[in-house]
Amino acid sequence: MKIIMLGAPGAGKGTQAKRLAAKYNIPHISTGDIFRANIKNNTELGNKAKVYMDQGLLVPDELVVDLVVDRFKNPDCANGYVLDGFPRTIPQAEALDKALANNQDAVEYAIDVDVPDEVIIDRMAGRRACLNCGATYHTITIPPKKEGICDICDSPLVLREDDKPETVKKRLTVYHEQTQPLIEYYSNKGILKSVDGTKTMDEAFEEVVLLIEGN
Ligand code: AP5
Ligand code: MG
Ligand code: ZN
Repeated sequence: MKIIMLGAPGAGKGTQAKRLAAKYNIPHISTGDIFRANIKNNTELGNKAKVYMDQGLLVPDELVVDLVVDRFKNPDCANGYVLDGFPRTIPQAEALDKALANNQDAVEYAIDVDVPDEVIIDRMAGRRACLNCGATYHTITIPPKKEGICDICDSPLVLREDDKPETVKKRLTVYHEQTQPLIEYYSNKGILKSVDGTKTMDEAFEEVVLLIEGN
């Protein structure tokens, strides 16, 4: 099963992608998580990506595409994957289609998690992230058991640099300009499904599963 999660920053792509990955026993591949892990480990890729990420801008396509296509070679991708945060531009989507077509393969579902900008701005201000394992929390809606500490790996939780309100506004502008056109792209391919991301996480997940299995 090959699934793409689309949606604005903070729409809940990561939240739903992790659940889908667990349900269907396929890997969750988040380009944002991959970049953050590289930043944390001070790699060359991480240092390059950080400059863009901290400003709320997209990392250039050429730093993203090969990274993802290489990741597919890992044996855990044999039964598919959930892509979260990739593709994010039309050229990335075209590159993905091309790479898959080389193996007579294609994306099966593109799921758009739809949330208005105002709701996103509120959500991001409360989000806390574990930079060690990628887990996310929310100060009000999903607090960790111990304040400021990851339930899973005991690492300290942080407000991501790019979750600061000014940067969130920039990310939303970038989303509308560069990523939103993918909705039409996948709609034209007949594989777009939209879910109302303002519902609770459980309700949204139920809807996503229905959209996939109802097909
Ligand atoms: P990335 O890490 O992908 O960030 P993003 O798309 O901005 O998305 P987020 O992770 O912020 O949000 P999400 O939709 O996953 O929401 P979440 O589930 O966490 O990318 C970061 C940066 O890396 C980019 O800005 C770019 O620079 C770079 N990058 C990454 N991929 C790239 C690519 N392909 N090309 C170029 N550059 C790339 O939920 C958000 C919050 O809301 C959480 O606190 C959560 O708990 C809460 N929440 C979730 N669902 C609900 C719900 N239903 N109700 C209430 N609260 C909810
Ligand atoms: Mg995410
Ligand atoms: Zn953790």
